Amino acid sequence: MTLLFACRDGDGADWAAALHADMPELDVRVWPETGDPDDISYALVWGELAAELPRFANLEIIFSLGAGVEHLLERDDLPAGVPVVRLVDPALCAGKVEFALMRLLQYHRRMPDYAAQQRARQWRELAQTLPDERRIGIMGLGELGGAVAGALAGLGFDVAGWTRSRRTMAGVTCYAGPDDLDRFLNRTEILLCLLPLTPDTADILNADLFAALPHGAAVINLARGGHVVDDDLIAALDSGHLSGAALDVFRTEPLPPDHPFWTHERIAVTPHIAVWSRPRTAAGMVCDNIRRHRAGEPLRHAVDRARGY
Ligand SMILES: NC(=O)c1ccc[n+]([C@@H]2O[C@H](COP(=O)([O-])OP(=O)(O)OC[C@H]3O[C@@H](n4cnc5c(N)ncnc54)[C@H](OP(=O)(O)O)[C@@H]3O)[C@@H](O)[C@H]2O)c1
Repeated sequence: MTLLFACRDGDGADWAAALHADMPELDVRVWPETGDPDDISYALVWGELAAELPRFANLEIIFSLGAGVEHLLERDDLPAGVPVVRLVDPALCAGKVEFALMRLLQYHRRMPDYAAQQRARQWRELAQTLPDERRIGIMGLGELGGAVAGALAGLGFDVAGWTRSRRTMAGVTCYAGPDDLDRFLNRTEILLCLLPLTPDTADILNADLFAALPHGAAVINLARGGHVVDDDLIAALDSGHLSGAALDVFRTEPLPPDHPFWTHERIAVTPHIAVWSRPRTAAGMVCDNIRRHRAGEPLRHAVDRARGY
């Protein structure tokens, strides 16, 4: 029973230790020390090393080393018929909630406006909005978006979510599908994107979507850079229609030094640091799924390849 850990920048030794602690009988190999490719039954993989997967003829599960799976599903050579499982890590979820709340509260409490006033040495009190008067919209109410929505509802915000299938969630106004999108956007003052990147959601943060938001809305993208049409975002900010954008993910990472996002006074850039997976908290989910697989039980967090997430 052999698992290959394949991530160029990942800490393979820490992952191997955490996996062993949970499942001592698991033989963990760290790329590029794959040994005999026919031994590999499980792969925990990220990024371009997914190109290695077709070498392993006896693969039984492909685990994504992150919550997103587009790096796997976009490949034509992904081994057919092998289940793909994404990483769902309670610490990753908690970290995402923390980072999302930090950004949302900055816009709610007008911190970018106060930063501009500080640069101009202006002492001016700006109007304050109560949480139940602040309309926040979350695109995606999955593991991450759902947790952020729940936290915001607990703080008393007026929260709405937009999903593919219709959902209900306590304290959250739910919208679903393309037909509801404009109604969801029209009422959203701070928009948070936590969608997976799929053919349906690529480029979704575009000029039409920004135009459907109220004047002065702010946009936060903590999902994938491929959701944003960069030029449309800059145009919506420059026209004054959007008041600000906080971006943690980009089409090209690292963000190229000459990219206009770096210097735009209404854009906050962070280098894809909202949260990352940690072996100590995430390895258990991998081992749990291996046990389930061996017992013939359904896998948890398996991806629907046709749906794209
Ligand atoms: N940048 C980072 O550091 C980072 C870290 C972790 C994750 N992420 C990104 O965050 C994404 C979301 O993670 P998650 O764990 O919350 O995913 P998830 O549990 O699979 O939830 C995805 C949500 O998006 C909705 N959705 C999918 N396609 C849609 C569409 N076409 N229209 C409307 N809604 C749609 C789903 O709707 P239904 O409820 O109807 O299925 C669901 O609510 C990941 O795919 C990943 O790309 C980024």
